[in-house]
Amino acid sequence: MIRGFRNTSWQKVAPWYNQVTEQGRGHYYHQHVVIPGVIKLLDLKPGDKLLDLACGNGVLAKSLPERVKYLGIDIAPSLVNSAKRNDRNPKHKYLVSDITKPLPISKDFTHAAIILALQNIQNPIKALHNISKYLIKNGDFVLVLNHPAFRIPRQSSWGLDIDKKIQYRRIDKYMSPMDIPINMNPSDRGSEVTMSYHFPLSSYSKMLKDAGFVIELIEEWVSDKESEGRSARMENRSRSEFPLFMAIKAKKLFV
Ligand SMILES: C[S@@+](CC[C@H](N)C(=O)[O-])C[C@H]1O[C@@H](n2cnc3c(N)ncnc32)[C@H](O)[C@@H]1O
Repeated sequence: MIRGFRNTSWQKVAPWYNQVTEQGRGHYYHQHVVIPGVIKLLDLKPGDKLLDLACGNGVLAKSLPERVKYLGIDIAPSLVNSAKRNDRNPKHKYLVSDITKPLPISKDFTHAAIILALQNIQNPIKALHNISKYLIKNGDFVLVLNHPAFRIPRQSSWGLDIDKKIQYRRIDKYMSPMDIPINMNPSDRGSEVTMSYHFPLSSYSKMLKDAGFVIELIEEWVSDKESEGRSARMENRSRSEFPLFMAIKAKKLFV
């Protein structure tokens, strides 16, 4: 695959992403699980300055306290344009840039976040070094991942054990880093592809340490949906046992 294609695939899937995220309001899990969890972990106060990396069409920006300064950066111009169109807050700014490269921004951010995006970046360590570079000492960083142990594209799935009446999670591969192409519309073989890059949790921990962070807290967020009908008990049990997302709150230790 051509490198440039990997970097620009999000520009190509922007119309689809705008649709699933309701033009920046966020998809179901953004609204019900991810954004409320991130807002709690960030614990922003008036005057704080937040850097939102790979901000997409600006889902996080819409839920911030009024007087927080915000800069959202994303590589896909059409997603950034969509974010700008829907954001009237004068304290909010946006930039089109690759977050693994040096950025033309100040180094005084009190907080940073990267939500459901580090797994779309081929060199996550470069993005983490960058985040560290633009945060103040003791600045807070919140990272949200599709759970790296339970949601590995093409390598994790549900199974049914009829005798035990349980829905179990099957994991075929975990420790090996993997580059996984994701077809945006599985029913259309010609549809656009984005890449997902899998790493085990221990790799994230090492990357954060190498980028100058210390992990303060790890949270695992489950779905808040409820099944009804014959399989409800089994499905609700597995939903509450296998988290969808992992959130890591880390502090930048060094200047
Ligand atoms: C799944 S979307 C998540 C967007 C947003 N954080 C959200 O939660 O809606 C992944 C985003 O990562 C962005 N992205 C991928 N590689 C990037 C890079 N190297 N630099 C900046 N943004 C990147 C894509 O353009 C896309 O908007």
